[in-house]
Amino acid sequence: MKSFLFKLNAVAKNILIIIQPHVLLSFLIQPFAFISNFISLTKWIAQQPKEGVYKEAFSLLRNYNHRIDLYNYVINREQLQNAEIIYIEMGVCSGGSFQWWMENNQHAQSQFHGFDTFEGLPESWGYFFKNGDMNAAVPELADARGHFYKGLFQDTLVPFLTKGTISIGKRKIIHLDADLFSSTLFSLSMLYPYLEKGDIIFFDEFNVPNHEYLAYKIFTESFYVNLELIGSVNNYYQTVFKVN
Ligand SMILES: C[S@@+](CC[C@H](N)C(=O)[O-])C[C@H]1O[C@@H](n2cnc3c(N)ncnc32)[C@H](O)[C@@H]1O
Repeated sequence: MKSFLFKLNAVAKNILIIIQPHVLLSFLIQPFAFISNFISLTKWIAQQPKEGVYKEAFSLLRNYNHRIDLYNYVINREQLQNAEIIYIEMGVCSGGSFQWWMENNQHAQSQFHGFDTFEGLPESWGYFFKNGDMNAAVPELADARGHFYKGLFQDTLVPFLTKGTISIGKRKIIHLDADLFSSTLFSLSMLYPYLEKGDIIFFDEFNVPNHEYLAYKIFTESFYVNLELIGSVNNYYQTVFKVN
């Protein structure tokens, strides 16, 4: 019976490949992917612990400033104000969050590395943001601990990592704020060999089903990485994990 079903499965699949369903049904790819990833996201949310995690009260509207509450929560919980950290921000734009972290960590040996095209998004993000949106001049850096790397992550991150700047044993704070699935998954995959227990990973648009959430899901499932949720604001829009 099992071998019959196995053969039937192969025959059905081969017939479908010949029929080429995409010719008529391509319009279903995007909505089906969105529905599937959205259901996966709400299921994931339902499975998260109710206690011991920073979370604000439910609100219908999003307040982007609440991400600062999340940064403050993490910096206090993990005692990062005076700790030596390596802060890596993927998606800097005009440098708002990058500046916040430099101002709120005082350790003279801390390093702050920011990556961006500074020419905007390399692809459209959903319906509202197009390729080239969010372009900004490279921000001025008054603090010698900060460094920017201009260009696509896909061109700048590997050369940066292979230079050996990211020493194992130093606390890393990784801030994923590139919005896109491709950029987020690429960053996580390249940073994976450097991740250590206790490192912190922020997602700035986590609850977007086809982008950062999908990158998180594929990354954790493919690399068998255990990320512990420690906080979120704006109904999981900004979400932070600790590497276990
Ligand atoms: C939302 S903005 C970052 C905002 C910033 N972190 C803040 O809070 O002030 C997203 C940025 O990601 C950058 N970005 C996205 N994908 C990228 C990629 N593959 N390579 C380089 N930059 C990328 C865009 O250029 C854009 O400036």
